[in-house]
Amino acid sequence: MNQPAVRVNSWNEWDPLREIVVGVADNACFEPSEPGYRPALRDTDAPFPTGPKPAEMIDRANAQLDGLAAVLEAQGVTVRRPDAIDLRSALRTPTFEVDNQYCVVCPRDVMITLGNEIVEASMSRRARYFEYQAYRTLVYEYWNADPNMVWTVAPKPTMADSMYRQDFWDWPLAERHARMHESEFCVTQDEVVFDAADMNRFGRDIVVQESMTTNRAGIRWLKRHLEPRGFRVHPVHFPLDFFPSHIDCTFVPLRPGLILTNPERPLREGEEQMFLGNDWELVDVPQPTSTNEEMPRYCQSSKWLSMNVLSISPTKVVCEEREKPLQDLLDKLGFEVVPVPFRDVFEYGGSLHCATWDVNREGTAEDYFPDLDYTPVV
Ligand code: ARG
Repeated sequence: MNQPAVRVNSWNEWDPLREIVVGVADNACFEPSEPGYRPALRDTDAPFPTGPKPAEMIDRANAQLDGLAAVLEAQGVTVRRPDAIDLRSALRTPTFEVDNQYCVVCPRDVMITLGNEIVEASMSRRARYFEYQAYRTLVYEYWNADPNMVWTVAPKPTMADSMYRQDFWDWPLAERHARMHESEFCVTQDEVVFDAADMNRFGRDIVVQESMTTNRAGIRWLKRHLEPRGFRVHPVHFPLDFFPSHIDCTFVPLRPGLILTNPERPLREGEEQMFLGNDWELVDVPQPTSTNEEMPRYCQSSKWLSMNVLSISPTKVVCEEREKPLQDLLDKLGFEVVPVPFRDVFEYGGSLHCATWDVNREGTAEDYFPDLDYTPVV
């Protein structure tokens, strides 16, 4: 059978899924402390571990990643995996050094499909600078097979000390509260910085969160790159999230007209208008089944990984097995829920949406915001 020529086509987070990449935990290391990141244990002042993760931890994560892949395949989805690249060697570039890389469990953070285009994000942390390499075999395959596929690599920042604002990590909580509307985090505004997971896709509209991992220059780059191609780029902010990184535990669109929202992270006042004015409903998710303290020991994400769900279609959603309250809400909203165990992956940066990167979903570029007073800059 001939391969269909169109291999890369994904315009939003919910259209029927045809092909997806699921991460792998091979060679994973503990994330190193660096100017853009300070991993910490919650229950003690003991230092966060460094170097390669133990084999049995990696095996447990791989078993659940393989389990997700099998569930998706059983739903008729083509599942691809990244290359298990070396992550354990120290790196030295002209502008920074780092003892080891991190992992290739979360393709969502690095890679994004915007219609027929694949964009490799600039990234924001040293240990993730070269993570794109794990996806290059796949990207070349898509690029060779699909003549309409556009491949874009965002400018790589220096990740030199001067790119970061290190005092950010020492701000007391009261100061964070006082400064919550400034959107100044651990990266400065001088270089283009963004992680792919700070974006949500809504057809021709792209929503981008300003965060620790995406700065204003990054959003400007996305605007200037995407608006001539017919997209509209909308920055959003969640001022009560003092350590924002990656939008998919905060704001999760599930089908036209419906976005799951985080009750502890409201949108900046006024930013909800774009959604409410276009008949989108914002539905708060229930409290997760774990408190932050009960999350797996080395997990650096919050309990809100609960809402990090993956859509197979506008009516079918993969949800972590233990998150019954969210499953009940999804059921009430009319979704079929596919429960999958995934907690052993949490210590690798995320849950079901983070650990995947959809390359092909049915559907085309729709306008889900017809009542938007907005003229893209061309
Ligand atoms: N910062 C988020 C939280 O803890 C975790 C985001 C994980 N998402 C991802 N794509 N890796 O709430």
